[in-house]
Amino acid sequence: MTIGIDQIGMYSPHYYVDLAELAQARDVDPNKFIIGIGQSQQAVAPSAEDIVTMAAAAASEFISKVDTNKIGMVIVGTETGIDASKSAAVIVQHLLDLPENMRTYEIKQACYGGTAALMAARDYVALHPDRTVLVVASDIARYGLASGGEVTQGAGAVAMLVSAQPRILELHDDSQFISRDIADFWRPVYTDMAIAMGKYSNEQYVQFFQDVWANYKAATGHDLADFAAINFHLPYTKMGMKALRTVLPQADEATQNRLNEHYRIATTYSRRIGNIYTGSLYLGLMSLLDGASDLKAGDLLGMFSYGSGAVGEFFSMTLVDGYEKQLSPEDHEAFLDARTKLSVPAYEQMFLNKVPYSAADYSTDPAAITSRFRLTGVKDQQRKYVNQ
Ligand code: COA
Repeated sequence: MTIGIDQIGMYSPHYYVDLAELAQARDVDPNKFIIGIGQSQQAVAPSAEDIVTMAAAAASEFISKVDTNKIGMVIVGTETGIDASKSAAVIVQHLLDLPENMRTYEIKQACYGGTAALMAARDYVALHPDRTVLVVASDIARYGLASGGEVTQGAGAVAMLVSAQPRILELHDDSQFISRDIADFWRPVYTDMAIAMGKYSNEQYVQFFQDVWANYKAATGHDLADFAAINFHLPYTKMGMKALRTVLPQADEATQNRLNEHYRIATTYSRRIGNIYTGSLYLGLMSLLDGASDLKAGDLLGMFSYGSGAVGEFFSMTLVDGYEKQLSPEDHEAFLDARTKLSVPAYEQMFLNKVPYSAADYSTDPAAITSRFRLTGVKDQQRKYVNQ
């Protein structure tokens, strides 16, 4: 029996800020943001969208096409959870009008949460092959206005349906993983803005990649030449390339060219959306599947997941015959093209209008464009959502 990704969908807010304009406003050379960091645009979430509404919107890309009675679990991976107790998954289940006889829960381990959810889903389907699992990775990356990490913010979600006999990607049971208690990035519970030791987190990301890749090679006998592409967690599009470059000399020229070109294609969406934390690796995967016309059934894809704090994992997947029929690249391109560009002052205003860390009632911006899922506000300390 094969197990893997049967459906995949994405969502990002309808607003973005142009990073050349942001650079100018911050008195930085735009080439630092566009070339040095590798980001052109950054999604900005209005107050009426949070990880719950974005998760539901990403899943709604395919939920009407699948048998929801077979879903055994909804797992949301996030590091920007909106409640310290209740999971986003149970609200997503409600917003999507899913049946009750399922488990719903949230997983947290920085940007690794999406992969943790995917692996839990794979293990569950192995025991319950007649059931499926809805996995969603949803986050709003916030470092603060004019902070060092501002250029690596973003917002969005990726949803995946994991099943037996998947129609897009077969997931292999070949993971190599490492956990080490380090302080490269964290977010105290009183704030929605992350604290990042920028340079240190970059170094650790590369170190974790080198370590899990070495372990993976030793355990599986695979080499770079076996892979059509290697996808990386993308806090910004230059980051994965820093890691890839350290191992490329192990490969022949043709392999190097193939991996470089597929890396470029995999970063297309992230370059326009920014960091979506748990979903970033999977947004890169979607970007690759949507954009690479030379991929074919049977191709092996490597996946490097990294979540600060920190966990690193390398695993592989194989493209399934007919996978392209399950994708809708034109819709994604059109969605990104149709977004509204914000001026830097308008972005700053949207950034600062958010659910407060207090017991006060709060109403979100009624004029903001959202998906059909919307956060209307907070009343008596409860978030209020509508499916319009
Ligand atoms: N033209 C082209 N490139 C330029 C440039 C210019 N005018 N000015 C700078 N650069 C390049 C630098 O050479 C550097 O390239 P390199 O990384 O290949 O060496 C890159 O732009 C970034 O410059 P740097 O001075 O290192 O940036 P920074 O001190 O502002 O820090 C981050 C960048 C990513 C560390 C920071 O944004 C951050 O802390 N982000 C949040 C944490 C994060 O994303 N961690 C990732 C691991 S999960």
